[in-house]
Amino acid sequence: MIILGIETSCDETSAAVLQDGRLLSNITVVQYVHTKYGGVVPELASRAHQKLIVPIVQEALTKAHIERNEIDAVAAVHGPGLAGALLVGLSFGKALAMALNVPFIGVNHMEAHILSNFIGDRKPKFPYVNLTVSGGHTQLVLVKDFFSFQLLGETVDDAAGEAFDKVAKMLGIGYPGGPLIGKHASGGNPHAVEFPRPYLEKGSMNFSFSGLKTSVLYYLRKSGFDKAKADGKWIADVCASFQAAVVDVLAEKLISAAKTCGVGDIAVVGGVSANAALRRRLESEAQRYRLNLFLPEFEFCTDNGAMVAMAGYEKMKQGIRSSLELTAEPNLQLAS
Ligand code: KG4
Ligand code: ZN
Repeated sequence: MIILGIETSCDETSAAVLQDGRLLSNITVVQYVHTKYGGVVPELASRAHQKLIVPIVQEALTKAHIERNEIDAVAAVHGPGLAGALLVGLSFGKALAMALNVPFIGVNHMEAHILSNFIGDRKPKFPYVNLTVSGGHTQLVLVKDFFSFQLLGETVDDAAGEAFDKVAKMLGIGYPGGPLIGKHASGGNPHAVEFPRPYLEKGSMNFSFSGLKTSVLYYLRKSGFDKAKADGKWIADVCASFQAAVVDVLAEKLISAAKTCGVGDIAVVGGVSANAALRRRLESEAQRYRLNLFLPEFEFCTDNGAMVAMAGYEKMKQGIRSSLELTAEPNLQLAS
């Protein structure tokens, strides 16, 4: 069974080809048109998807050595995400499915992120606890089966990736902030500044990162921070200290959720799961508590077509198909 997966929910245009659950290709273009604005500009994202969607899909097919008429189903994300961006991949996917006379499968972007740990041979066993950390979401989920989820907790304000992006903007180090903070932090001292660890009330599985972000802002003000004159080592220390606070909270809440749910497997997905300090910390915590940790390969941490194709494949196996009337849903929630 050959599935084409399409992802256009934010600022990555991506397509992938999966054959019987094995990935043949995954082509992703990150839209750098947003860099000079310090954040994603929705209108520009839609226009860039429009320009890129046909060549990206073609490249994914060429790399996979698959002809268009060999595709058995087309899967595309229909939410959550930016409405105009979603519409490009969704409309293209529906039209292609119609032209090829094959099933169309609408995929929830959050489900797709969770399924990114099923690309490859080592896969988590149900039930397990998953932490999704992206630019728009921070969620702890008990994954009972491919499409059976229980939301355990989520952020009450900023998402983890959003906090990385906002702090990077304050420091004037560029966009997207996550990878850049990670880079600066690698040369810094994580104990240089004691930023708060927002755990909320005892046992809470919710998150809050806006207070942490504000304390970085106050620290910059108090220190008389000036982008033009800032010393590289000082910036590295702030990045490392901020990152350490985020990593502490994410790691501790994930481990505590795993203990509460009594599971043996844990997983982390989404853009922030590419963070090297987070990955190192989780690896040592998993060893300490004898948990099996699952992290996607770097290519599948940020938005990608492969995770969409994987979700499409599992839906096909379960006989799940979508109507060609499916619309974009910017606020689509994870189904329980
Ligand atoms: O999953 P994703 O590509 O898109 C959304 O669904 O939001 O996640 C993007 C987020 C951005 O906020 C970006 O700054 C963050 O993931 N990110 C990182 C790293 N790479 C991407 N955050 C921390 N460290 C990284 N290495
Ligand atoms: Zn995402």
